Amino acid sequence: MSTTRFLTGITTTGTPHLGNFVGSIRPSVQASLRPGVQSFYFLADYHALIKCEDPVRIQRSTLEIAASWLAAGLDPERVMFYRQSDIPEIPELTWLLTCVTGKGLLNRAHAYKAAQDKNAAAGREPDDGVTAGLFMYPVLMGADILMFKAHKVPVGRDQVQHIEMARDMGASFNHLYGEHFVLPEAVIDDNVATLPGLDGRKMSKSYDNTIPLFAPREQLKKLIFSIVTDSRAPGERKETEGSALFQLYQAFASAGETQAMRAAYADGIGWGDAKQRLFERVDAEVAPLREKYQALVAHPQRIEQQLRDGAQALRAQYATPFLRELRTAVGLRDLGARDPGRAAAKQAHAALPAFKQYREADGRFHFKLVDGERVLLQSRGFESPKDAGQRIAALRRDGFAGADAELTLGPEADNAAVQAALDALRAAEETKA
Ligand code: TRP
Repeated sequence: MSTTRFLTGITTTGTPHLGNFVGSIRPSVQASLRPGVQSFYFLADYHALIKCEDPVRIQRSTLEIAASWLAAGLDPERVMFYRQSDIPEIPELTWLLTCVTGKGLLNRAHAYKAAQDKNAAAGREPDDGVTAGLFMYPVLMGADILMFKAHKVPVGRDQVQHIEMARDMGASFNHLYGEHFVLPEAVIDDNVATLPGLDGRKMSKSYDNTIPLFAPREQLKKLIFSIVTDSRAPGERKETEGSALFQLYQAFASAGETQAMRAAYADGIGWGDAKQRLFERVDAEVAPLREKYQALVAHPQRIEQQLRDGAQALRAQYATPFLRELRTAVGLRDLGARDPGRAAAKQAHAALPAFKQYREADGRFHFKLVDGERVLLQSRGFESPKDAGQRIAALRRDGFAGADAELTLGPEADNAAVQAALDALRAAEETKA
């Protein structure tokens, strides 16, 4: 069975919150269990450096995100689970891609343009406070994806442009140096909810409105009770539409439970009771994972070892040989080696079927179609080389309709073999053109 390779990364700058769990961790763990799927999930800690200059935070976040993924059921036997910075081939590939990426392409990246717009609005220089890291962000991300020949990249809508850029980089490289990269596609799951945060806006670290995924029970309760609601009193009918509390509940509840909550809203459930229900529901799902999580973060050395082992295996199997191939392709190679590109082309040429024209003792002009040693087709004698040439041209143009007065099949050949040889010649011509 052919497998589809999914790859995704999480930038290690924060503490996972309920929004990350519902929008990314939970669906990606579920997806990794589907048959026919191979998953590559990694901690994007080089990307973290672009946004965060606090070493302690980066270290802590890397541990927390790794532990969250494992606590949520990621099976490292099944999933390629690694840390970006353990794979030195990724920054190396970043450079190879940098050299085939138009600067104009990067100028158009949304994140970079947003930074420039902000500066313009504040009357500052366009690139004020913009690091080259921010500018290069899409190339590093392209290297993450292209390195492992991912077919599908599950991401949020805000990242789709980056996947398209990765495709562009891969295509440019392939065009210049031959087919090395698989061109990836973004996958956006519209069924995955974006959770609202405490204030009703999207749950996000930048709004400071998050509920940490593994907050201790008491803190979880306190935070859930601080979710904004309207001022309707108990007994008054509540709207589910636009209710952050309801949306959070829905993300954790079954369809039946959600229906019951909807009815309770209509019946005028008090906000305190609704919050209590939400708290119990979230805690029921999170509590068993929280326990695993606590055990995992208590032993950072175990996760450290697991990540290192994962990276080592990935390097040996994929990254190291692939970089060797790519370096050779661009010309970073043994000074004594012959151009393998040209050698491969020569070999392909030698393997192609061919028309051979010759003159017999009777003075007539014959031709054969041969594939290596095997004669596929043999012609009668023509008056002139031009007549023979015209018949060859007709065969190449129109294909083979079967033996006739001018053409006999070779001893081990049939119509299909002749046609396949003609097709191969045509294909070779088209790639040359
Ligand atoms: N840029 C992504 C984000 O902020 C994280 C990321 C880095 C990523 N490299 C990736 C996602 C490769 C998918 C594939 O969400």
